[in-house]
Amino acid sequence: MNHLFRRQFSIFYQNMNKFETKVLKIDPNTISFDSETNGMKISNSNTENVLKEASKLLHESQVVAFPTETVYGLGASSLSSEAVERIYEAKNRPADNPLISHISSIDMIKNVFKTEIPEIYIPLITKFWPGPLTIVLQVTSSCPISPIVTAGQNTFAVRFPEDKVARALIQYSNLPLAAPSANASTRPSPTKAEHVFVDLNGKIPLIIDGGQCSVGLESTVVDGTVSPPMLLRPGGVSLEDIINVGNGWEKIILGKKTAGQYEKVRTPGMKYKHYSPTAKVILFENFKDSIEAISTYENENGDNNNKDGLKIAVLKSRFWNDVPKNADMVIELGKTGDEIQRNLFAALRDADARKVDVIYVEGVGEEDEGLAIMNRLSKAASEIVTKQ
Ligand code: TXA
Ligand code: MG
Repeated sequence: MNHLFRRQFSIFYQNMNKFETKVLKIDPNTISFDSETNGMKISNSNTENVLKEASKLLHESQVVAFPTETVYGLGASSLSSEAVERIYEAKNRPADNPLISHISSIDMIKNVFKTEIPEIYIPLITKFWPGPLTIVLQVTSSCPISPIVTAGQNTFAVRFPEDKVARALIQYSNLPLAAPSANASTRPSPTKAEHVFVDLNGKIPLIIDGGQCSVGLESTVVDGTVSPPMLLRPGGVSLEDIINVGNGWEKIILGKKTAGQYEKVRTPGMKYKHYSPTAKVILFENFKDSIEAISTYENENGDNNNKDGLKIAVLKSRFWNDVPKNADMVIELGKTGDEIQRNLFAALRDADARKVDVIYVEGVGEEDEGLAIMNRLSKAASEIVTKQ
């Protein structure tokens, strides 16, 4: 019995950890692109070698984690179902959640995906590509995208990232790369190579380390194939910036489950787990003072949350100054929207690494970067406490 158990455990363990995960560094400054021709120059042999190794894996239907300006992605060829299945497997991602395909030139939409870009997108992509914006397109009968990427839908999502390592990898391998965030499903998205390593060590062959992501949360996803156009996920390009493009985008409406949809008072338990550290996240709205916020919550929750020995982290940004004496860890997210979004996921992970039990977070207003920040925070939170 014991022997059988050990043998089965060992097979299970081998299946779970089938790779020695390599982490290889690339200095983004060794890559440049001609703004006219999109031609790529690589000035360093290490960079070339890493791209070569990654590209070989991608052509063998393997997955590779790589940096983008938003978050690290876990990439595989969008044209190979065998490859894309490995993404879902490594992340433990539900199969009904479609993936974004990453391209390194607008021409790839026509040349690789055999798809015309609807007129409405032209002013938008002219302004925001390369960058943290994803658009939804119709799958045509000649489009070779794997149905696993689209989760069987008749649309697919595309993004042209700005990050030089991401662009170089797509261009070098000459493949469109389906890539969700490179975290284990439900965990906060990774903004550094070490976050990917913590979640996926042993499950993927290679992580390319290109340093910290500059935007820090995922791309904005818009659907212009419907009228009026829809914001499906707030992200690195703000709603205000999209509205300012005009040409039909001023009519954009918010899709379901984006921020602003939750109830006014307190919402216990969000619909599904996402961006969640192991610690319990309590999000505060409209409280300018952390002592007032946290004591309101702890008084209302009595013995349940105010136990001695609970390890507490406080994530503060614009207004909170003093923090309660019993806080074990205080993280400054920054004052500007840019800073807060860049530091958010890393802060949730840092609090987890310090094994805190509860994370109290200062919420922000939903203007500009605030919409995407509050979208991620409200999904990570198990409770939202709002000051009326
Ligand atoms: O910034 C990002 O977008 C990152 C980096 C790696 O590029 N990627 C990312 O992927 O966040 P993921 O898989 O975590 O999120 C993809 C989002 C999901 O909300 C998914 O539902 C949506 O895009 N999506 C993908 N294909 C879609 C489609 N055909 N129609 C509507 N939404 C789609
Ligand atoms: Mg994700």
